[in-house]
Amino acid sequence: MIKLDLSHAKLQEELSDYQAKVSEAHKWLHEKSGKGNDYVGWVEWPNNYDREEVERISKAALRLKDSTDVLVVCGIGGSYLGARAAIEMINGLYPHKKTEIIFVGNTFSANYINQVIEHIKDKEICLNVISKSGTTTETSVSFRLFKALMEEKYHDKAKERILATTDKERGTLKALADKEGYETFVIPDDIGGRYSVSTAVGLLAMAFAGIDPNEVLKGSKDAYDDFNTDDLNKNSAYRYAVARRILDNQGYSAEMFVTYELQMTSVAEWWKQLFGESEGKEGKGILPTSACFSTDLHSLGQFIQEGRKCLFETLLWVEHMNSDIVFPHAEVDFDNMNYLSGKNISWVNEMAMKGTLSAHEEDGNVPNIIIKLDNNSAYAFGYMIYFFFKACGMSCYLLGINPFNQPGVEVYKKKMFKLLGKE
Ligand code: PA5
Repeated sequence: MIKLDLSHAKLQEELSDYQAKVSEAHKWLHEKSGKGNDYVGWVEWPNNYDREEVERISKAALRLKDSTDVLVVCGIGGSYLGARAAIEMINGLYPHKKTEIIFVGNTFSANYINQVIEHIKDKEICLNVISKSGTTTETSVSFRLFKALMEEKYHDKAKERILATTDKERGTLKALADKEGYETFVIPDDIGGRYSVSTAVGLLAMAFAGIDPNEVLKGSKDAYDDFNTDDLNKNSAYRYAVARRILDNQGYSAEMFVTYELQMTSVAEWWKQLFGESEGKEGKGILPTSACFSTDLHSLGQFIQEGRKCLFETLLWVEHMNSDIVFPHAEVDFDNMNYLSGKNISWVNEMAMKGTLSAHEEDGNVPNIIIKLDNNSAYAFGYMIYFFFKACGMSCYLLGINPFNQPGVEVYKKKMFKLLGKE
């Protein structure tokens, strides 16, 4: 499902030199004995997730989605990025699905909130509010507004169309949900936001979008089995983690996550949060950034090719997307494009990838890590996220960082609360 190719990565250290450290960190992850060990519930999640809850997720989606034009998902950070990544990767950007999924609660932009309200006000809506803490300000601001809209529209039936995903027993949101009678779904105590996409946090929105949660979890389970070894020769997630550390040691301070499919852009956003929030601490870490080629070759390509040599690329190539186009022949070759007649556009994309790889690697001296993913199915998504979870945990442990907290995020909140006059 995933093939890792480090032959273009220009690594100046041997991976095997890291074996002892990797074996130690593998134990920390699996035996819950490393930094942040309260938050490694995601490691065993593909084995021990709550089957009954997953069934309830599918049932809730089945019960509501035929009467729902738009599912409004209200959450920020780990409480929305994974669902958006999955839905776009699997269904595409303009899917022919009955239920449209819109994300709110991830901004204070009044303009955006107004645009969403305008877009949905005459449609049939469901609202899924997602917050582990139940107190995140962006989410709370939007939730109050959209809850009011639901109540104005559906009166006492609103509660049947509002679903809350939050802590199992604590917090403001859980208390409100119980009081109002919303159906609730659980964010497990030991899984942090950015490791939670295969819990109810991501699965409920996916189910509304017609994606089978069981397929996602099956993919993660197979990835669990494939990456449950400390042997660097057999574990490509750990090899990727070590390669990142080696490139960090070689002075590369930024990693550009590159895809060649616009519908993978949100996967890149999810990946940036996973690595950025996990690794960027104590003055350390590689800056995660992203680009979608060939689109961004016309914006960032110049810098990558000839600019400062601060970055390496991690290229995620999806081998089989679910549709293609044959380039047509024109009787009169008015645009001189007949040299592509009869060729698949996916082949053109692949040649763009190969040409770019050669340009960046050979002429631009930019290291490239290549990750090939079989396809963009729900199963592949589940497999891929687990690969990156494992790689991220290992990467952080190799750097001596706790991968599961985010103390730095509190700083802006404190300053903002002071300005907002919050007690
Ligand atoms: O990954 C994380 O832990 C964070 O990005 C959180 O998901 C984000 O801050 C939202 O938190 P909450 O779910 O408590 O509203």
